[in-house]
Amino acid sequence: MAETQLDVKGAQGAPATATLVDNTTGKSVTMPIIEGSEGPKVIDIRKLYGETKMFTFDPGFTSTASCESGLTFIDGDVGMLLHGGYSIDELADKSDFMEVCYLLLYGELPTRTQKADFVHAITYHSMLQEQLRSFYSGFRRDAHPMAIMVGVVGALSAFYHDSTDIRDEHQRMVASRRLIAKMPTIAAWAYKYSIGQPFIYPNNKMGYAENFLHMMFATPCEDYVVHPVLSRAMDKIFILHADHEQNASTSTVRLAGSSHANPFACIAAGIACLWGPAHGGANEAVLKMLEEIGDVSHVDQYVKRAKDKDDPFRLMGFGHRVYKNYDPRATVMRQTCHEVLDHLGIKDEPLLKLAMALEKIALEDEYFIEKKLYPNVDFYSGIILRAMGFPNTMFTVIFALARTVGWISQWKEMIEDPIQKIGRPRQLYVGEPRRGYVPLDDRG
Ligand code: SDX
Repeated sequence: MAETQLDVKGAQGAPATATLVDNTTGKSVTMPIIEGSEGPKVIDIRKLYGETKMFTFDPGFTSTASCESGLTFIDGDVGMLLHGGYSIDELADKSDFMEVCYLLLYGELPTRTQKADFVHAITYHSMLQEQLRSFYSGFRRDAHPMAIMVGVVGALSAFYHDSTDIRDEHQRMVASRRLIAKMPTIAAWAYKYSIGQPFIYPNNKMGYAENFLHMMFATPCEDYVVHPVLSRAMDKIFILHADHEQNASTSTVRLAGSSHANPFACIAAGIACLWGPAHGGANEAVLKMLEEIGDVSHVDQYVKRAKDKDDPFRLMGFGHRVYKNYDPRATVMRQTCHEVLDHLGIKDEPLLKLAMALEKIALEDEYFIEKKLYPNVDFYSGIILRAMGFPNTMFTVIFALARTVGWISQWKEMIEDPIQKIGRPRQLYVGEPRRGYVPLDDRG
């Protein structure tokens, strides 16, 4: 087995470098070490293949930085999440989703005037092209709303041709604002279609979260007033899901965008990836798991299954690639959960009691302690959303609605990055070496 040795050097003041030595040939390559403003340094391996004809090997990209980004930073060891340098708990407590959208798109919190202009722009882009209404009628009523989201968002490029030229900065901003503005309408209409109720149009007098809840639960037959406790909780849930570094769906959006596909197609790709139960689909899976567990007395057997290597069962809502400490979003989500349930007068919500019992048992179990498995953002969100009246199938739709600003901000950063190029990973080939064609009659 060829051995290599990696020496990391950086005499005082000199730029740090990493040298890879192939012990079988004695050949070596020295690569620069780059330091960001926070977090781990990186070894710049861009010349590695050119000089060694070797690739790095990192399935799942557990040790790979795919890009430079200034939008979001996560410190998984201390459970910290920053957007533009502001911590998620401060933003959830003191800011609102429109401000967080502006922060992710422009890098700074808006002034009062900038915020008013941005909110106006989002408000006045919330309607859909009327022809899109008939797009919904092509789906079965029992279609999963995430399937509808992938279809309708991907189809936006067939309606908004004036914001698909990715080389045009103005069109990029128009597309970004259209996507943020229209996702609540698309999402609410997917729900209304599934229950056979008429679509409710956005109301320009309402705030973003209030408007979404109104489009979800109002009917043309009577006035529907959204309670401020619920619109505030919805706004917080949007903030908690806004962006999260280079997670699977964001990396999907970046990879799709690197081919210069239009922004609507890229976001549709992100929605498709988020749907997986290992990612954004976990919130729906958490509720299914809690309903399957049913009672605190059954928790031990499920924790046992989660620890069993031969059992594919995982404790949904637990664990994270980056957080090896509590997910700060889960902390805020749990507090919001209690606020919403108190407001709704749901004192002894059995699923919440079960979730808290499961959390306590899991966090005291040596397996979860050793593996550093904590509740993540998806663990409590389903309980709040269900209490607010959303069906389980809408949970990931809400995640996608909120994450759209993160996806589109990361997409915009990638398009505007002077060093960006089409994403094209290589592989370690383990298939058949070259061999000659065998005619059909000679194949036995
Ligand atoms: C999101 O990346 C992001 O930022 C995502 C996200 C975002 O905002 O975009 O934060 C949103 O996707 C949150 C995660 C939601 N998913 C779930 O809750 C599903 C359950 N969690 C697991 O599937 C898992 O924890 C992942 C997928 C979240 C993370 O997987 P990793 O980092 O690839 O870790 P792993 O699968 O390699 O697990 C490490 C060990 C393994 O044991 P060993 O092979 O080392 O013996 O921990 C075990 C796993 O078996 N493990 C679990 C577990 N999660 C990991 N065991 C039981 N139950 C679990 N939930």
